[in-house]
Amino acid sequence: MKTIIEPFRIKMVEPIKLTTREQREQSIKAAHYNPFLMRAEDVIIDLLTDSGTSAMSAKAWGAMMQGDESYAGARSWYRFRDTVKDIFGFEQVIPTHQGRAAEHILFSVMVDAKSIVPNNTHFDTTRANIEFCGGKAIDLPCTEADDLDSSYPFKGNMDIAALEKLVAKEGAERIPLIMVTVTNNSGGGQPVSMANIREISRVAKDAGIPFYIDACRFAENAHFIKQREPEFKNTPTIDIAREMFGYADGCTMSAKKDAFANIGGFLCTNEAELAHRERNILILTEGFPTYGGLAGRDLEAIAVGLREILDEHYLDYRLFSTRYVVEYLRDSGIPVVAPAGGHAVYLDARRFLPHIEPLQYPGQSLAVELYLEAGIRGIEIGTVMFGADPHTGEEHPARLDLVRLAIPRRVYTQSHMDYVLEAINLVWERRSDIRGMRIVRAPKFLRHFTAHFEWITS
Ligand code: F0G
Repeated sequence: MKTIIEPFRIKMVEPIKLTTREQREQSIKAAHYNPFLMRAEDVIIDLLTDSGTSAMSAKAWGAMMQGDESYAGARSWYRFRDTVKDIFGFEQVIPTHQGRAAEHILFSVMVDAKSIVPNNTHFDTTRANIEFCGGKAIDLPCTEADDLDSSYPFKGNMDIAALEKLVAKEGAERIPLIMVTVTNNSGGGQPVSMANIREISRVAKDAGIPFYIDACRFAENAHFIKQREPEFKNTPTIDIAREMFGYADGCTMSAKKDAFANIGGFLCTNEAELAHRERNILILTEGFPTYGGLAGRDLEAIAVGLREILDEHYLDYRLFSTRYVVEYLRDSGIPVVAPAGGHAVYLDARRFLPHIEPLQYPGQSLAVELYLEAGIRGIEIGTVMFGADPHTGEEHPARLDLVRLAIPRRVYTQSHMDYVLEAINLVWERRSDIRGMRIVRAPKFLRHFTAHFEWITS
C-alpha cells in the first residue's frame, strides 16, 4: 500500500472550539500579540509545541493506574530506571520533572563564569541555563544548514572544523562539555548523522572533554539515520539509538517529547561521583533521587512511552506526516525549511515577509497572522527568541527568522493538517499587507515567553 496511515485508532476525543475572526482578534490583542499568553481554548489547531502535548496510549494510561507513589524506592522508579538504562545505556539515571531541570542541574555542577559550551544549536532553555550559570553558549551548526532549500540529509550536524578550532583556541579547561541536540530543534528540527556524532565524540575524547547529547527527540533522529544514512538501513531503530548514546558520556532528556509523556525528564552520566553531586542538587530542587519531581504514575507513563516511541511503524508515520506538510508548501512555492524535520514545520518568515526587517520581527507577525486567519498557534523562532543579549540588552538579528509549527504526536489527523495548509496559503496570498511588530515590554531572560508586542503602524 502507498498510503501511510496513522498506526492507531482513536478512542477518546477532545472537542475543539471553533472561533470567528472577530473573536480571534480580541483574544490575540488581549494576549499582547504573544501566542504564549493566550488561553489554549481560544486556539483551533495548537502547534505551539510538541512538548507534553502528545496523545498517550491505552497501555500508558493503564500503566499509570499502577504507579507506585512510595516516596523512596518505588516499583515505578525501577521500571523507569531500567527502561532508560536499556535504551540509553548510561550507568547513572537521575529523574527530573522536565528537561530544563536536568539542564539546570548539569550546568550547576559543570559550568562557571569561565565556561564555554558548544552545541550544534542550543535550545533556548539550554542556552539560558548555561548563561544563568555565567557561561557562554556557542552554536556551531554545519554550513549546509545555511541553505534552507537544499536537500542535504543531515542539516542538524555540528560543524566539526569549527568545533576543532574552538577547542584548539580556548583549550579543554574552558570547555566543560560539548553538547549536541538531536534533532536540532532551533536549527529547524533537522537530524544529526551518526557520522557526525562519531566525529564530535572523537574531538571530545581527544581533548578529554565530556560529550553530552540533548536527547529530546532521539527516536526521530535515530529513525532519520535509518532512512538517510545507508550504513543503517537494515539496523533496528532502537539499536541506532543505543549506538548514538554509546558515543556519549551523558545526556539530558525531556520525556515530554520522545516519550509521549505530559511531564518528565532525566539526566544521565556514567560518572558516579558527578552523579552524587547532581543528586545533591536534585534533592534540594526536585525531590528524592527515586522520583525527582515526578509522581510514580509519571515514571510509569515514561517507561511505556520510551518503548512505544521506538516502534518503527509509528516513526515511519511520524516522519512521513511532517514531510507531507513540508512538501505541499514547497510545491506551492511557500518558503519553508527543507528537507522536512521530524517534529515540526518551519516557515521561513524572513522570505515569507521580505518587506519586514528582522528587528521588526517577521516571525512574530507571521505567527500572529496565522492565528488571526484560522486559529492556528505557532511560535516565532528567530530574533524575538534569540536576538537580545541578556546581559547588555543589545539587539541583533538572529541567524534565521522562522515560525515553528510543532506537531504533537498522535494528536492531529491529515485533515487538520490540510486545514493548516489552506490557512498558510491564504496568509501567503495577502502577505504584502502584513506589518512588522515592536516589543512594548520584555524581561531579560527568555523574553519570547512573556514579551508584549504591538503592530508598527507607520
Ligand atoms: N532541549 C530541547 C532540544 C528542547 O526542545 C526542549 C524543550 C528542552 C531541551 C527543554 O525541555 O521543556 O522539558 O524543559 N522544548 C520545548 C519546545 C519546550 O517547544 O521545543 P523541557
